[in-house]
Amino acid sequence: MERTFAIIKPDAFAAGSAGKILARIYAEGFKVVGLKKLYLSKVEAEGFYAVHSERPFFGELTDFMSSGPCIVMALEAENAISKWRDLMGATNPAEAAEGTLRKEFGSNIGENATHGSDAPETAAFELGYFFNGMELL
Ligand code: CMP
Repeated sequence: MERTFAIIKPDAFAAGSAGKILARIYAEGFKVVGLKKLYLSKVEAEGFYAVHSERPFFGELTDFMSSGPCIVMALEAENAISKWRDLMGATNPAEAAEGTLRKEFGSNIGENATHGSDAPETAAFELGYFFNGMELL
């Protein structure tokens, strides 16, 4: 079993899509081992996305991620990292396959409904950024 970190981003939360996304998560066989609703500050968003701090879209990305409530989750499944990335679809919703979450709920490359860790090391950092061990059940 593997764990990954996931976010239902502020665009999807504001659109009222969190329930539908969670239903897909359960239907696909993930176990939700941690879940919190948070309203990130700009500084918290900058810390989370620090790996992108030199990118031209960093300001836009962290403004967006601190623009409203989101849901952060720890998901467990066999090959959870790739399984969740497959369910999300391509980063840019315009390029995402039919049936993926970003295709259905995303608007553009910035407001793309969901986030997921891209590797075991990233998952470890991202899970630890938002959850302590006692919160993952
Ligand atoms: P995410 O999986 O959360 O990881 C980093 C995010 O940066 C990514 O999803 C996109 O939402 C965002 N991103 C990537 N490229 C761009 C871009 N060119 N313009 C705006 N945001 C971007």
